[in-house]
Amino acid sequence: MAQVPSSQALLEKIVSLSKRRGFIFQSSEIYGGLNGCWDFGPLGVEMLRNIKDAWWRAMTGRGGIEGIDASILMHPRVWEASGHVQNFSDPMVDCRECKMRYRVDHLFGEMSEKKLRAISKATTLEGALAKTLNMQSQEVTKEQLAEILLSMIEKSDTLFSELVEKELIGCPNCGRVKTLTPPRNFNLMFETHIGPVKDDSNAVYLRPETAQGIFVNFLNVMQSSRQKVPFGICQIGKSFRNEINTKNFLFRTREFEQMEMQFFCKAGTDEQFFEEWRETRWNWWQSLGMPESKMRFKPHEKLAHYAKAAGDIEFLFPFGFGEIEGIHNRTDFDLTRHTEFSGKSLQVHDEQTKEKYTPYVVETAAGATRGFMALLCNAYEEEQVEGEQRVVMRLSPSIAPIKVAVLPLVNKDGMPEIAQSLEKDLRRSMKSFYDDSGAVGRRYRRMDEIGTPFAVTIDSDTLVDQTVTIRERDSMKQIRIAIAGVRQYLMDKMD
Ligand code: GAP
Repeated sequence: MAQVPSSQALLEKIVSLSKRRGFIFQSSEIYGGLNGCWDFGPLGVEMLRNIKDAWWRAMTGRGGIEGIDASILMHPRVWEASGHVQNFSDPMVDCRECKMRYRVDHLFGEMSEKKLRAISKATTLEGALAKTLNMQSQEVTKEQLAEILLSMIEKSDTLFSELVEKELIGCPNCGRVKTLTPPRNFNLMFETHIGPVKDDSNAVYLRPETAQGIFVNFLNVMQSSRQKVPFGICQIGKSFRNEINTKNFLFRTREFEQMEMQFFCKAGTDEQFFEEWRETRWNWWQSLGMPESKMRFKPHEKLAHYAKAAGDIEFLFPFGFGEIEGIHNRTDFDLTRHTEFSGKSLQVHDEQTKEKYTPYVVETAAGATRGFMALLCNAYEEEQVEGEQRVVMRLSPSIAPIKVAVLPLVNKDGMPEIAQSLEKDLRRSMKSFYDDSGAVGRRYRRMDEIGTPFAVTIDSDTLVDQTVTIRERDSMKQIRIAIAGVRQYLMDKMD
């Protein structure tokens, strides 16, 4: 019977398996690691590439979507136009004594309900809370309390300091009171400099999203590829955010990969395209083996200033639901802002009305590395087979790092030679692996653990009738077929 371990234990098992089998290593591990950065090992890079390839094919293969690969460093004005210089920040506070730094929302998020209620009672917030919610504050949940306190702190210059002065909030690390500084905004973009001199005049940023490379290339792509609105531009690439808290493995990292598509359309058609893309992207995740039972679509309650509609596709990670992709109706905000800041018109011509207009954008913004983690978590299972525990990664064959293992039953009688020759032949069409060490049962288990969907075994019957067994990972069922038909059989199954 299949078993899924409890949340924290499951995450620890996945992190440990990832390292042991070469999916993910901690960045710069021999120097003690670098927080928020991870390296993809031999199996990880294959699987990540498979996910990105599947996405690229799904986007560019449908017609009307062009790909690009923009540079990571862009003109600094891009980030002024996009609003990132001004708004892409988190409010932070420091402890003057122990020097710990906290995000204000995390301070409240991690507080007990009792503490939150004490804060609201001891201040004038109680009345305001009841008014905001139009109900008795006793009915307010812990999360609502934290959220309302936060929004009040955002609006007030003094409230946080008042709470500190009244000793209602102290440092969670050293326990001292009256030591937290007032909140300050901390920009999440990494800054660097072009050229040998470091000063403000040559500061540039590592891009915090791939989207802006698409907006600024909108006309280049449309004209060079002779597209007409509606059409889309897609891109896969690295993004960087100086996240304050990096936790939960690949979920929130400082360097990560995104798969973004911006669909340009005329105002008035945007709502329909938003719905269509929401469904298309939902179905895409399912096509990689993610079940509906572990997914949900969460509309944003608070819309960004530029968004008309927005929501997240979320996956049930071991620690709870978390976003893997955002779908946003960004209106004409980005193209209008880039027109203002660059002085270059990014309008198109409507052939029917003969008028010029700025297109609206529906964006699908998926995390490649976060999606990778979701797919690993989704695939991991433990089960009892004949009294022994089997760990199996039920990865969809399309994203499994190795598609087939070729195993000689024993290391003699010409079996290794036949197996090696078959593996060499299969290698031309799919990622294959030859393994002749240890008992065949153990070799199957090693393959199950990394999600290899098929194993082909060469045995004594092969020597007589040129047939082999093919074992399927999930059912563990075996069939016997002619060695000459193995490649085609696997290709059909993989399809
Ligand atoms: N252009 C819109 C945009 O970037 P986002 O919701 O900030 O939207 C899109 O990011 C996706 O990128 C997220 O759904 C998530 O999968 C991934 N992502 C964002 N920040 C991340 C981080 N710090 N670590 C890993 N993945 C991240």
